[in-house]
Amino acid sequence: MIGVFDSGFGGLTILRDLKKALPDYDFLYLGDNARAPYGSRSFETIYRYTLESVRTLFARGCPLVILACNTASARALRSIQQQVLSFEFPDRRVLGIIRPTTEEIGKFSKTGHIGIFATAGTVSSNSYGIEISHFFPDMKVTQHACPMWVPLVECGEAGTEGAAFFVKKDVDALLAQDPEIDTVLLACTHYPLLEREIRAALPPQVRLVFQGDIVAGKTLDYLRRHPEMESRLTKGGKTTYLTSDTAEFFEKGAFLFGIDRISAESVVL
Ligand code: DGL
Repeated sequence: MIGVFDSGFGGLTILRDLKKALPDYDFLYLGDNARAPYGSRSFETIYRYTLESVRTLFARGCPLVILACNTASARALRSIQQQVLSFEFPDRRVLGIIRPTTEEIGKFSKTGHIGIFATAGTVSSNSYGIEISHFFPDMKVTQHACPMWVPLVECGEAGTEGAAFFVKKDVDALLAQDPEIDTVLLACTHYPLLEREIRAALPPQVRLVFQGDIVAGKTLDYLRRHPEMESRLTKGGKTTYLTSDTAEFFEKGAFLFGIDRISAESVVL
């Protein structure tokens, strides 16, 4: 199975695109719902929680784990790769979603000015700024943290006037920092659920970029380039859901993310 990890439900937006691009593969999704959101937690805590989750997915037989969470990718990925994998799990791989996104994002902009919406944890790590500067050194990157957006989605407020109000406030704050922005990246897995509000607040000429299909395309490419990993993945087109909260909580909440009629298993991390 391909393990897909997120702090909670948000990674389901990435999983949806992974399943579309890789329909034959089996996926094991783990949401750390009992401890979400991660967005405003410390580096140490995000690292510890993410590592516990990765160990759980490894123990369940995933040779490859995708951190389908920007905050975990920004705060924990590098340490897990450098300090844990090489010593304890040399034959397993953990991939994040920031690197694949930053390899592509510069191709969308004509002005060379990009705006990024993300959680406070992702913005303060400056992972996007650093990674984009490797691939597109001339790109001007402006980041803006939107701490209200994840709770709005999780509380079922997407589509309401209240959500539109807070989204517009953040969109205006981003564009005030750099009016030349022509491309905006949603660098948090929950934000696609606020697409309508974000589009309504953005000027029509600004392009909105979602991560899911970029990550899915890059994962496909990774498996083509790594047949030794690809051959270890089971293929049955099946998806299994694990959560650190109760199964019932996950099954109900996943509905907001377009996932219906599933049964989840509760695990202790
Ligand atoms: N999944 C997280 C991300 O993409 C957002 C939710 C959280 O803060 O835990 O950054």
